[in-house]
Amino acid sequence: MASIKELPTRSTTRFERIGAHTHVKGLGLDENLKAVRIKDGMVGQERAREAAGLVVQMIREGKLSGKTVILAGPPGTGKTAIAVAISKELGANVPFIQMSGSEVYSSGRKKTEILIEAIRKCIGVEVHEMRKVYEGELTHMDIKTAPHPYNPYQKVPESIRLTLKTKDEEKTIEAGSTIAQQIIKQNISEGFVIQIDAETGRIVNLGLSLTSAKGKTYDIDTRRKIPCPSGEVLKEKEFVYNLTLADMDEINARQRRGGGVFSMFFGGAEIKEIDTEVRTAVDEGVKKMVDEGKSFIHPGVLFIDDSHLLDLEAFSFLGRAIESELVPIIILATNRGVTTIRGTDVKSPMGFPLDLIDRSVIIGTEEYGADSIREILRIRFKEEKVNIKKDALATLTEVGAKTSLRYSVQLLSLAAQNAKSAKHKNVTVEDVERVSKLFMDSSEATQHLKKYEEKMMMH
Ligand SMILES: Nc1ncnc2c1ncn2[C@@H]1O[C@H](COP(=O)(O)OP(=O)(O)OP(=O)(O)O)[C@@H](O)[C@H]1O
Ligand SMILES: [Mg+2]
Repeated sequence: MASIKELPTRSTTRFERIGAHTHVKGLGLDENLKAVRIKDGMVGQERAREAAGLVVQMIREGKLSGKTVILAGPPGTGKTAIAVAISKELGANVPFIQMSGSEVYSSGRKKTEILIEAIRKCIGVEVHEMRKVYEGELTHMDIKTAPHPYNPYQKVPESIRLTLKTKDEEKTIEAGSTIAQQIIKQNISEGFVIQIDAETGRIVNLGLSLTSAKGKTYDIDTRRKIPCPSGEVLKEKEFVYNLTLADMDEINARQRRGGGVFSMFFGGAEIKEIDTEVRTAVDEGVKKMVDEGKSFIHPGVLFIDDSHLLDLEAFSFLGRAIESELVPIIILATNRGVTTIRGTDVKSPMGFPLDLIDRSVIIGTEEYGADSIREILRIRFKEEKVNIKKDALATLTEVGAKTSLRYSVQLLSLAAQNAKSAKHKNVTVEDVERVSKLFMDSSEATQHLKKYEEKMMMH
């Protein structure tokens, strides 16, 4: 007798990523859009969170496209955290693209090209299409082969005769070699429910028919089983695709190069830059489909973090883009005060051109008090799955209030690591004190550099 042994199921270890903002789950507002002091991983900063809540509501209602929102405030006051919360609130269906101002300075591509692409990735297009398809359970098929034109010893499929059945009808169709090849490649045989696009001939295997002999007999079959379709074999069906303008640009550019719609899924040459001509054609096409009721536009959000890194050229491009018809909401975050606009010697608030500021709404973030710092640290400890003693949390909060929230969050991870190597069950005051002696915050680092100014290398 064959001996069969059961093995314990191995628990899968998940790769856990603890990024700086993984604790942020939303804006933490109540049903009246009022900020709850501690909710969804967010603490304090009520005014900015409530303002962000209104922005989210307007985005959902499609009222804010083409507007700019500026998040301004000192470093480490939660600007990026609020933007992350906005994206969480919007959900997966609204495109949200996050980039840093520095990303526009790629050596291989033009600044404007990078910005256009980012903007177009943020505009969702829901395309509804009616297509004629042959759909049914395959009850009989007959493949005719012919000798290969270059190698007469090899046979290739030349044509195929298929009988498709629904609950109400049966139809036999004859098709050419491309359909025969797809059937062979996809391992389709009698008993499967298939769908053939009447125009392109693309075949989709939907699964085994429950009414077929195979569907009934193979109990331990992992293949998907579906009921036999009803109605006519040749029918018009509605297909819904969720794309972005950038996806459509790419499909269009590939088609122009003769790649066909599906080369996007099956690979093909990478397209580095898309012609303006292609984009104009896509825009026209989309607008027409919207007018005909076949498409819906979902403007998303382009979030540019550290946007003081953008220069005048990039700003003026953004300014122009905002005026056009198909644009997302643009959120810019910066921690700069009055400073020069990059690429010029003009001074301006946040280093942004005045006309851009004029057309924006500004959300300000403020520095945290000790209470908020303690709560944020507490949340971060939970996120990193470490326990901390009460007095150690108090010490770390003190460090945070004296230096910055960001620095105390950094020390938190280091203190946790120190506790681990010292085999402490919880993070203790000694752990916090040890790491704050070992590492420097920015003001300590500045003093340190000043002290050795003459001995440090200058060039
Ligand atoms: N109100 C808050 N509630 C919870 N966590 C917060 C809050 N504000 C900031 N944080 C967390 O504190 C850290 C620093 O905040 P964040 O990176 O958002 O600051 P910032 O304003 O973007 O700073 P910078 O100007 O340097 O980019 C992050 O880990 C962030 O998730
Ligand atoms: Mg930030």
